[in-house]
This record gives sequence, C-alpha cells and structure tokens, in this order.
Amino acid sequence: MENVIDENKQGTSLKLASKPDNTKKLYIESYGCQMNFSDSEIVASILHKEGFNTTSQLEDADLVLVNTCSIRDKAEQTVRKRLEKYNAVKRQNPKMKVGVLGCMAERLKSKFLEEEKIVDLVVGPDAYKDLPNLIAEVEEGRNAVNVILSKDETYGDIAPVRLNSNGVSAFVSITRGCDNMCTFCVVPFTRGRERSREPQSILEEIKDLANRGFKEVTLLGQNVDSFLWYGGGMKKDFAKASDLQKATAVDFAALLELCAKAQPKMRFRFSTSNPQDMSLDVIKTMAKYNNICNYIHLPVQSGSDRILKEMNRQHTRAEYFELIDNVNKLLPDCSISHDIICGFPTETEEDHKDTLSLMEYVKYSFGYMFAYSERPGTLAARKLDDDIPEKVKKRRLSEVVELQQKHSLIRSKAFLNQETEVLIEKTSKKSDSEWSGRNPQNTTVVFPKENYKIGDFVMVKVEDCTSATLKGKAIGYSKNM
Ligand code: SAH
Ligand code: F3S
Repeated sequence: MENVIDENKQGTSLKLASKPDNTKKLYIESYGCQMNFSDSEIVASILHKEGFNTTSQLEDADLVLVNTCSIRDKAEQTVRKRLEKYNAVKRQNPKMKVGVLGCMAERLKSKFLEEEKIVDLVVGPDAYKDLPNLIAEVEEGRNAVNVILSKDETYGDIAPVRLNSNGVSAFVSITRGCDNMCTFCVVPFTRGRERSREPQSILEEIKDLANRGFKEVTLLGQNVDSFLWYGGGMKKDFAKASDLQKATAVDFAALLELCAKAQPKMRFRFSTSNPQDMSLDVIKTMAKYNNICNYIHLPVQSGSDRILKEMNRQHTRAEYFELIDNVNKLLPDCSISHDIICGFPTETEEDHKDTLSLMEYVKYSFGYMFAYSERPGTLAARKLDDDIPEKVKKRRLSEVVELQQKHSLIRSKAFLNQETEVLIEKTSKKSDSEWSGRNPQNTTVVFPKENYKIGDFVMVKVEDCTSATLKGKAIGYSKNM
C-alpha cells in the first residue's frame, strides 16, 4: 500500500462470473473505503438472484449502481462527475436505470432525486436487501428510495460474490456502523449504529474462502476492536445482557483467536483499529498466532491533546504513546500506520507541531493524510468555524506527507538484507517478469517470478527498497504457512 493523500480518484467497476439464465446487465462501481467494496459484493450477490449478471461495459448496462463515499467533499464531487458520464451514456441508452448506494445516498436521501435528474434509485447501506423491490418500482417507471438505517442488519446471511478478485485475498466484514461520533466524521450519520456480526457466520464465510483457495482475509469494520457479540443487540446494551450472554460473549481478541485457530493456513489482517478500543488482549493474541499479521492501522488524527478533545477522540496523546509502547514491546516487528487530518478548526501552528512530533515518536510505516473537509451535519460543522485557510491546510498537509515519506523510507530500509514472508498476489505493475505481494507488515514486495505462483507464501531476501516497496529475491517457500 502506498501513502495516499486523498481517496481513490478512480472508481472500480466489478466483474462477476455470469449465471446462464440471467438476462439483465448490472454495472456496479465503488468509491471510498474497503467496506464499500465489500458491500458491492453483497449487492451483486443479491442481484445475481434477481436475474442480473455484472458487466464491465457501462454502455451495455440495464442498471448502473454507484456505491458512494461522503467522507470528504472531494469524494462526493468525484461521484457527481461520474453521474455526468452516466447521463451521457443514458442519452444513447434511454432504458438504462441509475441507482446511488452507500454513504451519499444515506446523507442526501431523496434530495438526490431532485439534485441529480439522472438518478432513479437511492439506497442506503442498510437497505440493500430491499433492492429487488426497489428495482421493481423503478422498472415500473417510479423513483425509489430506501435509506432506513438498521440496528441489526449485518448481511451475515448473504454470501458475497467475490468480484474482480485475485482469488488470494478477501475482505470479510465483522461490524457495521460506528458509535464514536468523532466531531469531524459523517460515518455515524451515514452508516448508523454500530453492530457486530454473529461469529459463526464470520467463521463460515472464512471457511468457504479457505475451501476456494483464498490465503488471506482482512476483517473489516469502522472500528473492529469494539467488536462484541453476545447474541445480538448493540454494544451499548451489553450491560442489560443476561449472565449467560455475558459469560459467552465474544470480543475482538476472542474473535481473532477463533479465526486464527480455525484456519491456521489463512493469514489474517484487520482494519480499522480505534486507539481507544484496542486492548492488550488483542496485541497479545496477535503475538500468539503466526497467522495474524503484525500490522495495525491505528488512526490518530492529531498529535495535539486540545485538538483530540475537539475531535471527540477518546484518548490523549500520552495514552496513544502508551499503546504504541505496548505494541512495540509485545510485537517488536509490528508495523503501524495512521490517518491524520490537517487543518481541523482552530488548529494552531503549535497543534500542528504536536502532530509532527507525535509522528517522530512513532515513525509510522505508512499513512493516510487528509486536509480537513467540513461535512454538513457533523458536530464540528455545527459548532466550529472551518477557520483554517485552504492554503494553510495544504501546507501543513504537505509537511505531514513529507515527514511520512521520510519515515516510510526508514521503515523500508530496516528490511534490507532481511528475509520477509510474502504472499504472492499479482504480477508487478512495473514488470511482467516479477511478482508483487505483501509481507505481514503490509509492505509491498516485488521479486523475480521464477517458478512461484499466485497464492504462494514465499520467503524473500530484501536487497533494495524505496519508501513504498521492497525488492528482493525469493529464497524458498515459507515454513510458517
Ligand atoms: N474508522 C474508520 C475511519 C473512517 S474515515 C475506518 O475504518 O477507517 C477514514 C479517515 O478519513 C479518518 O480516519 C480520518 O482521518 C479521515 N476523515 C474523516 N472525516 C474527515 C473529514 N471531515 N475531513 C478530512 N478527513 C476526514
Ligand atoms: Fe468516523 Fe470516528 Fe467512527 S473517524 S468512522 S466516527 S471512529
């Protein structure tokens, strides 16, 4: 993975093996976080049963669905531009219907139909099971909207179809929604209350992936460390659970252990960890199992205690350092990445310097860095002036990016002359004669193909590096996996 300073500019359209009897064509495109990509696989699965096969040709589609992101204004603008493109295509193919899914659908609701005439269908992240009914409405010439959020929908009973998959790594969602209410963030409004998926259905999905030859699973959630299953219901109601429910509850550390034990040949990752919820138990479980990757995505957002408080993050700078120290102590070769926001309202140069010094302390391996983008309806938008000039936000962002590049290079260099385990995922973008994969720390590694194949776990001796990529030579299969 590379350092990025903004979200996917390119949406990804998804392909799917066709079902012979299906006659309708679905073109589905996803923007934003991994959860959206995972949700699109659920949507394709639901529509596969309704007579749709997916197509990668927009021009051929009977139904176009775009799974949208609202996290920053730019993400929304990207989607609006795509709608213009769909509009042009619809002029050639007037029967084509267009639906908007995901966070923008949830945020704008039926306003979408007024603002974008091309849109026939608006469906929020918890309403995908209603798609068959909604599409029937649209086919009869009416617009259709369902943006009802749910307290219990996890799509645990739907087997996602793996779209555009390399057949090696897959996402499995374990929680939906978020209860944290960080003041800058639109997610709690667009994805609703946090809920956990039943562990058995998670284990079954992973078993099925293993049977189909997959080698790596990333457990997904807005905040995976707050996973808690006690027979259904929201985390905040756990206090009211029965003694039996409490005694048999499964938290994230326990879930990780269940996964690692059930599938010892599968490599596990997870994302995202919120520092306030990451427990020592999780770190210890990572240390205990070889097949849990030593990599933690641990967004910090800011290094300033005052700003962290304004953001309603539930930890201090000192507590974050304590967590980092524990990770370093218990998992010495663990890599850590971050999300950082530059130019949150009221952020002073002093606060910004606190962010830079926090980065110096941690020396992250990667980072995802953003200029603050005010989101309508969030607490920050309601209570605070977006008072940092765009120029200042951009300058602070470039300082953060530059420092991160320096740290990424230091982290990459630490692998020089070391052996590192790589799961081969694909042919390298730069050379047809080289494989590309990732090591447990989530760094990309490229090396000559020789007789190895996609899906192999190999040991690579690292000979060269850039800040984002390690280069080396395979020295044999991994004995771990
Ligand atoms: N827990 C989530 C976080 C979702 S948002 C997860 O699974 O990744 C991803 C990142 O976007 C956040 O960590 C934050 O750094 C950034 N972000 C969120 N809202 C933002 C905003 N209004 N402006 C700029 N960046 C934002
Ligand atoms: Fe957003 Fe904070 Fe949740 S960043 S997704 S409200 S943890």
